[in-house]
Amino acid sequence: MTSSTSTSTRTDRPATSAPTSTYAVFSSLVGLAALVVLAQGLWAGLFLEHDGKRDAAASWIDVHARGADLAILLAVLATVWAVWKLRSRRDLWAGSLVLVVLLVLESYLGGAIRDAGKDTLTAVHVPLAMLLMGVAVWLPVRARSGRR
Ligand code: HEM
Repeated sequence: MTSSTSTSTRTDRPATSAPTSTYAVFSSLVGLAALVVLAQGLWAGLFLEHDGKRDAAASWIDVHARGADLAILLAVLATVWAVWKLRSRRDLWAGSLVLVVLLVLESYLGGAIRDAGKDTLTAVHVPLAMLLMGVAVWLPVRARSGRR
């Protein structure tokens, strides 16, 4: 018996018939989150310059904290959009949900470093920031690859 699967359309990536603009909104939200994560490294560089002088560093740490809130908001919006408009792309909505969870974890660790003085957590906080960047770049690339 022969298979009815068309070999010309087979792919290991899920595809939807959603319009290009739907993907553009998703990728823009995640791309903005990636830029905010990148900027977090800049704010961190500015407050680490004043290491040991809490007052001089405080305003940049506050900017860093607001950046975290903005990144989480953008990732949540991307997840809601993907669940609403790209439901069949589980890779995208699950991936952006993972981004939200990792961002919340990152913020929790940052808060523990600042408020509870757990400086050793910096060794987790910084590599996690790199992982976050990886996920935030991978998602728009993945969105492009499954488009029709
Ligand atoms: C290379 C990137 C990053 C570096 C080097 C870094 C470094 C740090 C350090 C050293 C602290 C402790 C500040 C102190 O009390 O001395 C901190 C706090 C914090 N970080 Fe990061 N971080 C980075 C990326 C991120 C990212 C991507 C997020 C989330 C999107 C984030 C969210 C936070 C938050 C919420 C705090 C606590 C701020 C507060 O309680 O006011 N960080 N970060």
